[in-house]
Amino acid sequence: MDYETIRVETDGPLGLLTIHRPDKLNALNSTVRRELMEAVDALAHDDDVKVAILSGAGEKAFVAGADVSEFAARTPAEQRELYNHRRVYDAIADFPKPILCAVHGYCLGGGSELALACDLRVADRTARFSQAEIRLGLIPGAGGTQRLARLVGPGQAMRMALTGDMVDAEEAHRIGLVEVLVDEGRHLEKAREIAGRMARWSPVALRLAKRSIKAAMEAPLSAGLELEKELFLAAFASDDGREGVQAFVEKRDPEFKGR
Ligand code: COA
Repeated sequence: MDYETIRVETDGPLGLLTIHRPDKLNALNSTVRRELMEAVDALAHDDDVKVAILSGAGEKAFVAGADVSEFAARTPAEQRELYNHRRVYDAIADFPKPILCAVHGYCLGGGSELALACDLRVADRTARFSQAEIRLGLIPGAGGTQRLARLVGPGQAMRMALTGDMVDAEEAHRIGLVEVLVDEGRHLEKAREIAGRMARWSPVALRLAKRSIKAAMEAPLSAGLELEKELFLAAFASDDGREGVQAFVEKRDPEFKGR
């Protein structure tokens, strides 16, 4: 599939998505959003892909936010109409396999919200995060108040969304916005290393574990624990679950089939 603003590659079990609009710091215009959503959906259905990684092209940015020039050209009714449709952030959040975000440089507004929709954020020391919408007289509209508050707590989310200040990579790591921090230029390599370790495991177990942790963000503890029990039983009953346990007992490597 040929895309204008993104690149999609596969490397063994890894699906590599790159937002490729470096002259505009990978700002999210409607073409990027549409193409990214199509590519995410295609990777979801590609059985050879076990884990995906999202990154941005160029030296300066992962994504410098929504394309502000598109905002400027849109009426409130048009913006509402867009919000009535499925959005790329949801396509990523609902992706059934693990998806990591490899961040360098600017990660602003909608870029930060894309990173928040991913399961894990690996950043290099050049990464700078901001919910910059407040500077435009706006507020985050794609998870930058909701997913952000769940990840870093309401206080840090307030600080970011109400000041629009940049948070550097070290601070982002300290407050839990970045899970893995690496030296400059090593973010993609590190993301691939982690994704590769995940991809060795049963696709069924990966999917169920992800679903269970996501439920923890939404459900009360008792309901989450009940769901976790059911999902554990589904993993236990899967061919891969039987194979993993049997392989351990027989002191051999498991052969997971994804069912
Ligand atoms: N939307 C549209 N275009 C953007 C953009 C955005 N969010 N961010 C950067 N660009 C464009 C610039 O307009 C510029 O295009 P041009 O060369 O045609 O003029 C190009 O990307 C390079 O950006 P530039 O501003 O020259 O780079 P810089 O290093 O001087 O500054 C930033 C980098 C990130 C500080 C600055 O681009 C910026 O403030 N961007 C907007 C960030 C923002 O408000 N995002 C949140 C939106 S909710």
